[in-house]
Amino acid sequence: MAEYDYDVLVIGAGPGGYVAAIRAAQLGLKTACAEGRETLGGTCLNVGCIPSKAMLHASEFFNAATNGTMAEMGIEVEPKLNLDKMHEQRRDAVKSLTGGIQFLFKKNKVDWKKGYATFQDAHTVKIGDETVTAKDIIIATGSSVTPLPGVEIDNDNHVVVDSTGALELPAVPKKMVVIGGGVIGLEMGSVWCRLGAEVIVVEYLDKLLPGMDDDVRKEAAKIFKKQGMELRLSTKVTGVSVEGKKATLTLEPSAGGESETLEADCVLVSIGRKPNTDGLGLDKIGLETNKRGQIDIDHDFRTKVDGVWAIGDVVPGPMLAHKAEDEGIACAENVAGLTGIVNHDLIPGVVYTWPEFAGVGLTQDEAIEKMGGDKTKIKVGKFPMMANSRAKTNHEPDGFVKIIAEAESDRVLGVWAIASVAGTMIQQATQAMEFGATSEDIAYTCHAHPTHSEAIKEAAMGVQGKPIHI
Ligand code: FAD
Ligand code: NAI
Repeated sequence: MAEYDYDVLVIGAGPGGYVAAIRAAQLGLKTACAEGRETLGGTCLNVGCIPSKAMLHASEFFNAATNGTMAEMGIEVEPKLNLDKMHEQRRDAVKSLTGGIQFLFKKNKVDWKKGYATFQDAHTVKIGDETVTAKDIIIATGSSVTPLPGVEIDNDNHVVVDSTGALELPAVPKKMVVIGGGVIGLEMGSVWCRLGAEVIVVEYLDKLLPGMDDDVRKEAAKIFKKQGMELRLSTKVTGVSVEGKKATLTLEPSAGGESETLEADCVLVSIGRKPNTDGLGLDKIGLETNKRGQIDIDHDFRTKVDGVWAIGDVVPGPMLAHKAEDEGIACAENVAGLTGIVNHDLIPGVVYTWPEFAGVGLTQDEAIEKMGGDKTKIKVGKFPMMANSRAKTNHEPDGFVKIIAEAESDRVLGVWAIASVAGTMIQQATQAMEFGATSEDIAYTCHAHPTHSEAIKEAAMGVQGKPIHI
């Protein structure tokens, strides 16, 4: 009889966990995956990447019809919002994709153990009434919303909501206050702004989108203001009270000072996410979380407990689905005795607003810091989308591409893009950087015309000092 029920048990079926489980099974390991939700796919497929993109895509069409962009192209329509239908197509997308994972589990013979898993020891977990043993266990429990002290989220009341509640609003709020000008705040704020809400973003820092290049962050403020959002930067929310369907927020300058109040029909709390480890029974296996609540791992995704591995949002690094997926594949390969690697220096990040904001590698400040603070050791090329023929033709003038390269070697250190399709464009930059490209390599690579990607070539020519179209 086998010593364990399974070779591998994965806890959590988000993009990290379900991908790890499928990869482990593909590699011939007997695999099970515990998931407490009713459907597979984790945060990403159920309440994250996919439903938010369904709402962003649909609301952008509505916006193009209402803000005059379509009319500029000779399409005159009188748009009418059918929000129920918009929600329905979002739910359909989620249903079909989560069902797709269930199909892939069956196809690859991954057993789904429905329920929340708790460690009994390093090779044993309880899932409901069932006890399951496995030689190796991969923790992929993901993350959930960071609460704001003193602010109670009640998604069912639709007044103070998190991202999950913001996806499900039954009506367009008249006035929405977004707490946190990060990725979720700007994506979900964009959805409701496009559908007619007055949106006010309250951000603690002096710029939006922490982690992105400074030029991108500055431009973001201009673009979202132009789109009608009100930005309250360097401001913090100190309290929210709710009476019926109205919220009253108390705000004050981040640095301290006089407070003021603001009324809203809806408040979105989007100040970050925290790793999910509650109820996992980490104490039973002698595993502690770090100061940020994350599970520390080594280069190969091993925790300090033999046979226990961890990936995705629950470990350090950007909380992104593609990072979790890549870690899932690499971790399963390591469990199987192969060599699985993720290049954590090149994880692209994309904000799926209009235009999209994307980046990979170092920001300009990080690059200078890497060069010991010597600005002359980097070169920067920038090209405006206004001068890109395709963007101009498509009525998409906002944005730019910026390439940062090491002056001596010309090796590309970072690429930043604001463009309607920046999320797609950043992929070519990621690939080029993965292959160690110089800006000259990119500048002398033939780019199809007319495409937005030509702006990457021109920015690379800018690093070389010789762009053509500006
Ligand atoms: P998760 O997807 O969080 O999955 C973990 C799963 O584990 C959950 O289903 C949970 O139920 C389950 N679980 C937890 N504990 C247990 C337990 N003890 N037993 C059994 N099961 C358990 N990222 C992008 O890259 N692109 C995007 O466009 C994007 N959009 C987003 C939009 C929103 C609104 C949000 C909230 C997030 C978005 N993200 C996006 C982030 C992305 O969703 C996460 O980075 C990704 O889902 C992390 O994957 P994961 O597998 O680590 O965890
Ligand atoms: P975030 O970290 O992107 O942004 C949170 C923002 O809130 C920061 O700008 C922070 O300064 C601000 N903030 C914190 N406390 C505040 C306070 N008290 N008052 C005002 N502002 C405050 O976190 P967010 O937007 O919640 O997203 C969580 C995670 O989900 C991100 O790490 C992101 O990686 C992931 N995600 C990714 C998406 C994508 O890839 N397109 C889309 C949505 C989420």
